[in-house]
Amino acid sequence: MSTTARIVGSILAADFSCLGDQVREADRAGVDRFQVDVMDGRFVPNLAMGPEIVRALRRVSGTPIEVHLMVEEPIRFVEMFARAGADHILVQVESTSSLYRTLLAISESGAQAGLVLNPGTPVEAVREVWSLTSMITVMTVEPGFGGQRFINAMLDKIRRVRDLVRDTDIEVDGGVDAEHAPLAASAGAGLLVAGTSLFGHPDGISAGVAELRSALG
Ligand code: DX5
Repeated sequence: MSTTARIVGSILAADFSCLGDQVREADRAGVDRFQVDVMDGRFVPNLAMGPEIVRALRRVSGTPIEVHLMVEEPIRFVEMFARAGADHILVQVESTSSLYRTLLAISESGAQAGLVLNPGTPVEAVREVWSLTSMITVMTVEPGFGGQRFINAMLDKIRRVRDLVRDTDIEVDGGVDAEHAPLAASAGAGLLVAGTSLFGHPDGISAGVAELRSALG
């Protein structure tokens, strides 16, 4: 069981009426990163979060921030999220025909680049460009909404990404809870994005983090 797996708190599941308090509680609980989900209503059938949320997070936390761009042609938004304080900018493989140029733009912005694969997208899709990234995210749900069930079939895909890339973090995102976190870590995931199992935990965020850490052993 991996004990080095890092926990990424997805604020999509946070209570936005007291976001600052939720972020401070997650920091106290020891999350390793935060993730801000950006949605344009076209790449995914939902709308969520702009650069102001990243700026607000930066005002209350020094913890690294990932920005997950679930938008068409993400290159349009790289600079604005980098300026807002994103440490990592993750783009969906399926969202642009100019992936190489987009990843270079992220690196030029000063952020670290990441690639995200939807459940139906083959691992092969990152073969030519993974070396331009610091992380590859395997979506374990269809993107657009939190609170979905982890797709177990993605565990084998994590292993195949692990076989393909070197010196690159592998992240899983979607439905990650105490049951699935150790499975994903054992398959090779070093970054576990948790939204509902953290910010939606019935006993609070700290209990959610502790439960994941305990499950990871
Ligand atoms: C889907 C989102 C979610 C979120 C995690 O587009 O990307 O995967 O980050 O949410 P939970 O942990 O509730 O599935």
